[in-house]
Amino acid sequence: MKLNIPIEETIKKRVSTRTYDSKNLSKNDKEKLMNEISQLTNPFGENVRIHLIEKDTLSNGEKLGTYGVIKGANTFLGVTVDKSEFGLIAAGYQFENLVLIATDMGLATVWLAATFSRAQFEKAMDIQKDELFPAISPIGYATAKKSITESLMRKTMKSDKRKSWDEIFFESSFENPLSRKAANEYASPLEMIRVAPSATNAQPWRVVKKQGAYHFFETHKSNASEDEKMIKKVDLGIALSHFHQTALEHGLAGYFEKWEDIGIAIPDHTNYIISWNIEEK
Ligand SMILES: Cc1cc2nc3c(=O)[nH]c(=O)nc-3n(C[C@H](O)[C@H](O)[C@H](O)COP(=O)(O)O)c2cc1C
Repeated sequence: MKLNIPIEETIKKRVSTRTYDSKNLSKNDKEKLMNEISQLTNPFGENVRIHLIEKDTLSNGEKLGTYGVIKGANTFLGVTVDKSEFGLIAAGYQFENLVLIATDMGLATVWLAATFSRAQFEKAMDIQKDELFPAISPIGYATAKKSITESLMRKTMKSDKRKSWDEIFFESSFENPLSRKAANEYASPLEMIRVAPSATNAQPWRVVKKQGAYHFFETHKSNASEDEKMIKKVDLGIALSHFHQTALEHGLAGYFEKWEDIGIAIPDHTNYIISWNIEEK
């Protein structure tokens, strides 16, 4: 389902925020947010759940730690999903849709998959042991000035930079870059993937156009841990949110489907995720 916000404009506006004003969400913003959360969907048929917690409502002594990365935030969102083939992809997709809605509302967010105390948030958000719990985000109002930690992190991860088209988009095979011109009406949906956020700004998404479809892959370092590989799937879900929502904004028809055989030689440490068929179902 298409989100009721200007997608490309909002994708370009979104930026990670780690320094927050300490005031609570206004009553209006909280109500609107809760209403939006109740209407979120994903095109992968997975049951993604969003949790919201406010520091004020915690019992005495309970903590929500972010290893000093986040300053001033009082409200946090969390995302969980059942363990299944597209669970993490769907969680990435649906939570990013929420991040974009929040951005459109003028609220600040940042995806956190590593720098938060999972045990503390699991307890506060009443998350069950059999759920996958890939990420949280603070939600609130950005301060005018960033903390030193935040400025340093952005510099270290080169957060304002992205890979170029020829490093991530291909035609027919991983050897042959796809030009913006050849992507034609899909140049915008692909560009919106390129500017997406990803864990440590690794930009692990790769796309190959072949036989009336765009095929999506994740790539990781040879020494990546199982946890890191899980997060790459969330990154792909985020990329698919940007791609799909931009395609919908441009009125492009198509649908997601996992192919049996894509007929593409896949490089090492790269996995095929799903394809977008360019046609009506
Ligand atoms: C799935 C995911 C997990 C992330 N985990 C963290 C994290 O644990 N801590 C953190 O400070 N930033 C985290 N980030 C934020 C990224 O560092 C950030 O998106 C990237 O550097 C690009 O910057 P930008 O979002 O401002 O464009 C995460 C982002 C994504 C998409």
